[in-house]
Amino acid sequence: MEDRGDRVIVAGSLDDLTEQAARAVSRSLADRAKGRDRVTLVLSGGTTPRRLYERLAGHEVPWRQVHLFWGDERCVPPEDSRSNYRMAYDSLISRVPIPPENVHRIPTEHADPHQAAARYEAALQGFFRLPPGAWPCFDVVVLGVGSDGHTASLFPGSSLLEEKKRWVVAGYIEQLQAPRVTLTLPVFNHAAQAMFLVAGKDKAAVMSALRPADGQDVRFPFQLIRPHHGQRIFSLDQDAAGSLKPS
Ligand code: 6PG
Repeated sequence: MEDRGDRVIVAGSLDDLTEQAARAVSRSLADRAKGRDRVTLVLSGGTTPRRLYERLAGHEVPWRQVHLFWGDERCVPPEDSRSNYRMAYDSLISRVPIPPENVHRIPTEHADPHQAAARYEAALQGFFRLPPGAWPCFDVVVLGVGSDGHTASLFPGSSLLEEKKRWVVAGYIEQLQAPRVTLTLPVFNHAAQAMFLVAGKDKAAVMSALRPADGQDVRFPFQLIRPHHGQRIFSLDQDAAGSLKPS
């Protein structure tokens, strides 16, 4: 992955988008697994990512080395149909030979979302074992984007966007009238690769902000994820791309 910076891929159809993204994720995982014991993949919720997980289950991936994490989670138990873990379990985990100890879900069965966030942060710190003040570098992070420009559970106007020290935070999301747990912007921005999967006409307006004109303000949370030393890939279908050109 010597490529750095942004890449925009506009797929001819939703099916092509899914297949290209599955190929890109499996290739990145295989490349980054070379010579290492483990490689990390962060999953998110959403209908576009779900299609990717189903497709990924049919691809060659070094599953025994892959450790799965989540970028965000709804505050429900893991068996709940709204759970992002449950969605990934049904679409991917139950179909591939990944060791159960490599699956690191956010423990949202706890009544208090802040406790779930603190426990997940402690689990991540135990996994990465970094010196104080260092940030984890996830190998591949899969993200969706909402029609309001949110990504993971980082919503427009949310105070969670201000977090500078913690790896995982919880908060009540006004737009959803529900609590969520999410990784923070500094964590996403230390990833090696962030891959955004975006489909549908309702996303075209926010996607037009992907290449802001000089001096134009950042308007949407997804724009704030720009890995400092990593790559950003946007996989869009034609509806979401609108007039954006591939790069
Ligand atoms: C979630 C997400 C969220 C999602 C976007 C896009 O838990 O819902 O992690 O950020 O990825 O809302 O979802 P769609 O692909 O369904 O539009």
